[in-house]
Amino acid sequence: MKKIVLGLLLILAFNATQAQDAAMNAFVTKLMAKMTVDEKIGQLNLVTPGGAVTGSVVSSDVDSKIRKGAVGGLFGITGPAKIRSIQEIAVNNSRLHIPLIFGLDVIHGHQTTFPIPLALSCSWDMPLIERSARIAATEATADGLNWAFSPMVDIARDPRWGRIAEGGGEDPYLGSQIAKAMVKGYQGSDLSKDNTLIACVKHYALYGAAEAGRDYNTTDMSRIKMYQYYLPPYKAAIDAGVGSVMTSFNEVDAVPATGSKFLMNDVLRKQWGFNGLLVTDYTAINEMVNHGVGDLQTVSAMSLNASVDMDMVGEGFLTTLKKSLQEGKVTAKQIDDACRRILEAKYKLGLFADPYRYCNEQRATTEILSAGNRKAAREIAAHSFVLLKNQNQVLPLQKNGTIALIGPLAESKRNMLGTWSVGGDPYKSVSVLEGMKNVAGNNVNVLYAKGANISDDAAFAKRVNAFGPEIEPEARSSEQLLSEALDVANKADVIVAVLGEAADMTGEASSMANIALQESQENLLKALVKTGKPVVLVLFNGRPMTLGWENDHVNAILDVWFGGTEAGNAIADVLFGAYNPSGKITATFPRSVGQIPIYYNYKNTGRPYHNEEFAKFKSNYLDMPNDPLYPFGYGLSYTSFSYSNISLSKTNLQGNETLQATVNVTNTGKYAGEEAVQLYISDPVATVTRSVKELKGFQKISLQPGESKAVTFIITPEELKFYNTALAYVWEPGEFIVHIGTNSSDVKSASINWKK
Ligand code: BGC
Repeated sequence: MKKIVLGLLLILAFNATQAQDAAMNAFVTKLMAKMTVDEKIGQLNLVTPGGAVTGSVVSSDVDSKIRKGAVGGLFGITGPAKIRSIQEIAVNNSRLHIPLIFGLDVIHGHQTTFPIPLALSCSWDMPLIERSARIAATEATADGLNWAFSPMVDIARDPRWGRIAEGGGEDPYLGSQIAKAMVKGYQGSDLSKDNTLIACVKHYALYGAAEAGRDYNTTDMSRIKMYQYYLPPYKAAIDAGVGSVMTSFNEVDAVPATGSKFLMNDVLRKQWGFNGLLVTDYTAINEMVNHGVGDLQTVSAMSLNASVDMDMVGEGFLTTLKKSLQEGKVTAKQIDDACRRILEAKYKLGLFADPYRYCNEQRATTEILSAGNRKAAREIAAHSFVLLKNQNQVLPLQKNGTIALIGPLAESKRNMLGTWSVGGDPYKSVSVLEGMKNVAGNNVNVLYAKGANISDDAAFAKRVNAFGPEIEPEARSSEQLLSEALDVANKADVIVAVLGEAADMTGEASSMANIALQESQENLLKALVKTGKPVVLVLFNGRPMTLGWENDHVNAILDVWFGGTEAGNAIADVLFGAYNPSGKITATFPRSVGQIPIYYNYKNTGRPYHNEEFAKFKSNYLDMPNDPLYPFGYGLSYTSFSYSNISLSKTNLQGNETLQATVNVTNTGKYAGEEAVQLYISDPVATVTRSVKELKGFQKISLQPGESKAVTFIITPEELKFYNTALAYVWEPGEFIVHIGTNSSDVKSASINWKK
């Protein structure tokens, strides 16, 4: 009976969607019949009047272009009143009254800012990530917006690349789960609601594989590598119904991605069936001229031919497409298709029914930066921190005695939000010092000293400070800063050193060749360690850093990334044990930049090396081991967990059978805690070489002290699949090894045999 009811409901829902689509088609067709070619091309133009800009060009004459119908959308402005006034120009003064779409880089929260995406991914908690996107959408729509340029799902195996901060790390499976959660959080189930918006998965494609980790640099990889490791998260976003896709700046297979027919026509549109809005990145069409594939007219036609719909800022479409049409370089149908997809996005948002749907000033006053949102931000931030070391249980801190809080990031509101927090006001964030005072209680004496500058290199500081004073050199000399710090340290029972990167040492155009602590901070830390007092390093960073010395010499390391508006409170919550850290890293921490690219799902060579001693004629280094400092999936807790061996429902399987693999996880320590239990599979023999292991599942569980839970993973042939040389997604029979554990290198393993 239940099944019949469900079936009927599904049929009804399907019919309703079909009816809605038919109504949309009829509406758009009727509207387009009235449009001139110029007006259609005008819809393909996305402009920014300034604000948060990332290129040299800013759109000019925006007002008069809107009146002429030469603009389809705007990005980079916020505020319901301001957006209403611009929308009014389009609706009241353009010939066909077509409303504009309004976008922004809503990346990790809006005004209430959540941890940077790399940090969020470390929570391994999809409902939590979805919740962050839901709140972001609520605030952004209350602020006049209806389009978020997120999620960024570029897989990155190179921590030199500054934009590793913006994504979910190195793994395609985890990245795909995050992509889905974020799309769901932003878009909800009905785009026409006033608190949902269109998400935009980016940067399509392979932007995270820039050579040498240098932003915008060349990307080159085999198709198998692309399909197996880099494309899955974009596809997951498409499968989750993402409304828009953004192209990337890099080239792929010797063609700039923004003009790649292979990427967009063949894979995105045909193979994956995406028929939503495809927008370029910032002036990415124009940049194809520098890539060396033609003049502006040629590259604009190339993009349209590759099914790009909207041109961000560069106005290559606006200024050349009509000429290309007359010369037969593009077709009227291609322009129509692009225009239609943009109008459909506006229709789905409900903008034709009510162009001011997102301009509700009342909502802006109650729904933005609300106490509830800040509370969520605090909780979410605490879940994103990763405990990298905790010798002798120096953490959590006691709520008595004297704590020396030392470091250039301890009192810096400016650096709490992290990169791409354009909607957030850093001065509304909670610093670590404030957080410590809020949480410590009356029996703790918190002493503070800055101790050092983030960097003493003035030229470097100037480059980092492009968006504001993140590295603020002191008038006092470094000797003075250090001696103040040591005074404070000598009075304390424990030293909490708050060090790391300034917010914009990661992010766009923020690649680094050296990913260690800056020298000024290293000197400070060494002096603090010399005092002989216990030292806890609270590390701010947007990328994996090289922390070999720190790992060997400090007592505890808590990686707090950039935690957002409530960073300071969340850090104090974790330091004092109000929340037991459960984050696990999603990008490998190398011992040295020389090991990069370094990632857990590497391939065996013909001369494999298994972390044993150096061996001549094996694939290893003379001067250090191959293995990383901290492996993918690694992170500690204030408690400890033990894993039983794996029990399997079967060891011999056939065809579409399913396997249950179970471990018992026990909390063997003193604190309640959460643990991300990870499932990896390896396929030792196949027709193509496979990774040593690949993540195929995870479950986050919570356990009271002494409590055990059975954690079961259901494995089907789907989890065994990979791309073969024909790029078919297949599985091949034979032996597989199931691994379950606490991180990618600490696992229990069991072997199975699976026949066709
Ligand atoms: C970035 C995009 C961003 C766009 C608009 C570009 O520079 O690469 O991620 O969405 O600017 O701000």
